[in-house]
Amino acid sequence: MLRRLYHDQPESFAFTPDNQKWAEAQMKKFPEGRQASAVIPLLWRAQEQHGWLTRPAIEYVANMLDMAYIRVLEVASFYFMFQLQPVGSIAHIQVCGTLSCMICGAEDLIGVCKNKIADKAHEVSADGKFSWEEVECLGSCANAPMVQIGKDYYEDLTAARLSEIIDELAAGKVPVPGPQNGRFAAEPLKGLSSLRGFDSGKTKHNASVQAAVEIGDTVKRIDGTEVPLLTPWVKDSATKAAKPKPATKPKAAKPKAAAPKAAKPAAAPADVAEEKPLTLDAARETGADDLKLISGVGPKLEGVLNDLGFWHFDQIADWTAEQVAWVDSRLKFKGRIERDNWMAQAKELAKK
Ligand code: FES
Repeated sequence: MLRRLYHDQPESFAFTPDNQKWAEAQMKKFPEGRQASAVIPLLWRAQEQHGWLTRPAIEYVANMLDMAYIRVLEVASFYFMFQLQPVGSIAHIQVCGTLSCMICGAEDLIGVCKNKIADKAHEVSADGKFSWEEVECLGSCANAPMVQIGKDYYEDLTAARLSEIIDELAAGKVPVPGPQNGRFAAEPLKGLSSLRGFDSGKTKHNASVQAAVEIGDTVKRIDGTEVPLLTPWVKDSATKAAKPKPATKPKAAKPKAAAPKAAKPAAAPADVAEEKPLTLDAARETGADDLKLISGVGPKLEGVLNDLGFWHFDQIADWTAEQVAWVDSRLKFKGRIERDNWMAQAKELAKK
């Protein structure tokens, strides 16, 4: 299926204050210069907030992570967990249509979706409450056929049971996920043939279902107001930042003591004296170069570079280690100049 941006997009997107706080905390999980690693959680949170991923939301996340828009769109359009068009206000039903499920009745489940929701996948039902799509194997083949609804799996389904589940959801209930035919988990349909003495009765449901029932948020969208926000590392890093010297100095002393190895990282900008490169007040008359063509430079970072006085590839192509250190110390995420080798890229681009 072609996954592309929806034709009708909202004007803008912004995280709610709680989600913004959560998203910034996710970014702190990664070393400086590697904040792009947070792209999937941030996109997911944007989708949870809005219901589907809009173009402004993709751009918002790209700006937060200093990534080119196209890089974030590549992620959003690659994974089926990201919905690039509006979905039902109650639930979006993902029907597995791969081998095991297809053999065991996925087509009947799709028939239910067509009858009860909309004739075509990705169309929202007339009442706006549901949408559906066919997806590839969801890894629950032993309990085929199955669907994913919100965060949970509904397995061992029949057309009649899926129909009931949709009705229950429409009535505001959350049906218990997991096997719908009385099976505990993925044991043989005709009963256990081994481990007969095994006592699985400690919990009413298998572990996944038990957790789903206890959390109870199958189709509820996360909105950032959950308590507690699971970002304990923020407090840790804040504490470390508050008393940086005692915590950092002993650690910094070690590599220097182990001299031969510490000598290697000539790349560490902190070890190099800073020197300001040649900057310009504005672009030359020929117009500014598109610095976004340098891999690793997004629109936001291009703005920062322009503010610092860099408008052209040839300005960047000849930076020395000292000049890299000067620029690096003025960027939000240090280390990215060398990681993405901006100078070599700029040298090539300047030739064109
Ligand atoms: S084939 Fe449907 S879950 Fe694997």
